[in-house]
Amino acid sequence: AKVTEVEFVKSSNRPKDCPKDDRPEFAMLGRSNVGKSSLINSLVRKKEVALTSKKPGKTQLINHFLVNKSWYIVDLPGYGFANVPEAAKMDWFSFTKGYFLNRGTLVSVLLLVDASVPPQKIDLDCANWLGRNNIPLTFVFTKCDKRKGGKGKRPDDNIRSFLQLIREYYKQQPPWIMSSSVTGIGRNELLLHMSQLRNY
Ligand code: GTP
Ligand code: MG
Repeated sequence: AKVTEVEFVKSSNRPKDCPKDDRPEFAMLGRSNVGKSSLINSLVRKKEVALTSKKPGKTQLINHFLVNKSWYIVDLPGYGFANVPEAAKMDWFSFTKGYFLNRGTLVSVLLLVDASVPPQKIDLDCANWLGRNNIPLTFVFTKCDKRKGGKGKRPDDNIRSFLQLIREYYKQQPPWIMSSSVTGIGRNELLLHMSQLRNY
């Protein structure tokens, strides 16, 4: 599950402009600022392959990165940024919805959830929508290093209650991984998980 090479391929502003390719891919999804772009950089051990920012709303397009010439990581715009007007929120959904529903090579969505805050309705709604549409998903709890209770991999009350709430939408609990792009916790586990999913 080693990353030896990563290459930015393209940014698309419509799902139908995405690379025409049959190589498998994983898409980073989650609230603005949750750490999607940072996680990509951490996985491939490059500082700024995917552009990050303290300000939410940095990633605006569908960005394809090719890893080891054999699979893609896709960086997506975040949802739920508080200052975004209602119309733009709707836009975000119609924009990304098309991608999820039509991307046949999508192996799994990585739904990033901030481990340092209690469960947020918008993340639960998103998990629910993916579940109803049978889109495979893996939860990645990010920013583990920021948690008050401890910086390690151990799940705490926030995580446990999130997973409990998810039960309403999933008969079988989706896989989940604790991660931090700052300390690298969960990095190898996530790479291994993705390689197992690719080899199914
Ligand atoms: P959008 O592109 O706006 O949707 O945001 P994003 O989800 O791509 O977030 P991004 O990776 O740009 O990170 C947002 C901020 O969170 C940056 O200031 C990062 O340095 C910080 N950050 C990301 N991951 C972690 C983490 O694991 N731990 C800590 N402490 N900070 C993190
Ligand atoms: Mg981003």
